[in-house]
Amino acid sequence: MISATDIRKKYLDFFREKGHAIIPSASLIPENDSTVLFTTAGMHPLVPYLLGEKHPAGTRLANVQKCIRTGDIEEVGDDTHLTFFEMLGNWSLGDYFKKEAIEWSFEFLTNKKWLGISLEKLAVSVFTGDKDAPRDEESAKIWQSFGIPKERIAYLPKENNWWGPAGQTGPCGSDTEMFYWSGDSAAPKKFDPEDKQWVEIWNNVFMEYDKQADGSFKPLKQKNVDTGMGLDRVMAVLNNEKSPFETDLFLPILHKIEELSGKNYTDDPKTRWSMRVIADHLRTAAFILGDQRGVVPSNVDQGYVLRRLIRRSVMHAKKLGVDKPFTREIGEIVVTEYSPAYPELEKNRTRVVDELAREEEKFGRTLEKGLREFERVLKKEGSLISGKSAFDLFTAHGFPLEVTEEMAKERGIVVDAAGFQKEFEHHQELSRRGAEQKFAGGLADHSQEVVRLHTATHLLHRALKNVLGEEIEQKGSNITAERLRFDFNYKEKIPADKLKEIEDIVNEQIKKNLPVHFEELTPEEAKACGAIGYFEDKYAMLNNKLKVYFVGDDKKGFFSKEICGGPHVEHTGELGGFKILKEEAVSAGIRRIKAAVSANQKK
Ligand code: ALA
Repeated sequence: MISATDIRKKYLDFFREKGHAIIPSASLIPENDSTVLFTTAGMHPLVPYLLGEKHPAGTRLANVQKCIRTGDIEEVGDDTHLTFFEMLGNWSLGDYFKKEAIEWSFEFLTNKKWLGISLEKLAVSVFTGDKDAPRDEESAKIWQSFGIPKERIAYLPKENNWWGPAGQTGPCGSDTEMFYWSGDSAAPKKFDPEDKQWVEIWNNVFMEYDKQADGSFKPLKQKNVDTGMGLDRVMAVLNNEKSPFETDLFLPILHKIEELSGKNYTDDPKTRWSMRVIADHLRTAAFILGDQRGVVPSNVDQGYVLRRLIRRSVMHAKKLGVDKPFTREIGEIVVTEYSPAYPELEKNRTRVVDELAREEEKFGRTLEKGLREFERVLKKEGSLISGKSAFDLFTAHGFPLEVTEEMAKERGIVVDAAGFQKEFEHHQELSRRGAEQKFAGGLADHSQEVVRLHTATHLLHRALKNVLGEEIEQKGSNITAERLRFDFNYKEKIPADKLKEIEDIVNEQIKKNLPVHFEELTPEEAKACGAIGYFEDKYAMLNNKLKVYFVGDDKKGFFSKEICGGPHVEHTGELGGFKILKEEAVSAGIRRIKAAVSANQKK
């Protein structure tokens, strides 16, 4: 068996030989991006550099990045879906392009010194071309020059061979993907991308565009390469296994679950499914807890995802008949197995295992009562559990939606998930921006101090755009009772006179004592009125309408219009006065302002 350790090492050694600097995995919690909860791909932390910032380690980088994607959490347990995975990646930041990228992918995959995959088992796809970008004959020719036959090259449209942050603006481009024949029979001569026995193992993205808010594609200043190879997939196919669960990525964890439950992984499909769910979810939970920016279980954002993962594992363990606390032991194994590659896990071992055990215990305390309540709801509501009941099960007994759904499904009953979501959002009543603030500590804090700073943040955001340009965008925000912190894109230190100008503009709005109110608008209406902020903001979205906060009055024109869940002050005069405390760099191309309002200062 080829081990995960071997593959990580080979990959990094190979790209080191090709002049790449090896960089550590960034945190699972994105640092300057509030549009997603977790790092979902290797390129994610590198976006500023793909857009042209200078990376301190150079123009050729490689690493193994921790990633989390929870969109398909119900599918976990089958052969392919995982909530956590490791992505091997190499990058050219305006350095090499198609020729070297493909040449090196080919060499790494086929050369005996590296993965040594036979040419017979490989196929590739390239972009077929459309109005935005031409057909990628160049990549096809390069593949052919290495001996990939024409019949093994598929030309596919954007849905398949284009990569960029989903539905968002930012760096993107066409890609070429590599497929491995996993079937028992010999690989067919012709590549059929629909045939699931061809497994995609590597993706080389040629990032040469910057997708604009209006959907158009602007050429980037530099041509980049962004590649991603999923370690779990490669482990499964190279070891000739059906899934990554049968490899050393999971076997030590599964053995422990067998021991704890007294059941065998191979007993029956249901047992196997539950064991896989537990192994997947607790591995992810351990990585979130052990991350360099670790989060603990809570009812919001990353903390809520973590809570769901742990509680769902507990329910599956119950099904397997595990009748004593078990998450600590699994956590220990994950830390031991993975800390050679991710030293932060060892460093945070205590937090990982203690928090797992604590959350398991917390859930255990309300579990029996919750199960009784669940039965009562079933009797009362019959074939459809209402969103309200599902939400009550969550708030009173700590049953995450997926847990209720899963229990209901076993009885052939459906849960009104959309109804649950509405209740959930209604109760959160917070913007995505508010959400970030929460997860950083102040989330549920609606104290006057925090509310004032929240409004000050809107004023600052608008003033920054007025002074530095409309392209300024929020990249992060955090509020404590004492100060606001606002991160945004800007290339250089902001000169003192500009800072003063920004501060003065905010103070002018405070002096005018402008009224603040919100309206619920459709995304189209919000766009039409010129609101700024995240149009995909699900926290500010209720019944398909977005909450837009207006500062100022209609007759004189509003000073600020921003999508946000609130809450805010009623009049800007409540802020007292505004002072910028500090302006500094966070990372290349990202500046940070810390500021306070005088109404918060203790007399
Ligand atoms: N960013 C590309 C992916 O995730 C490589 O597939």
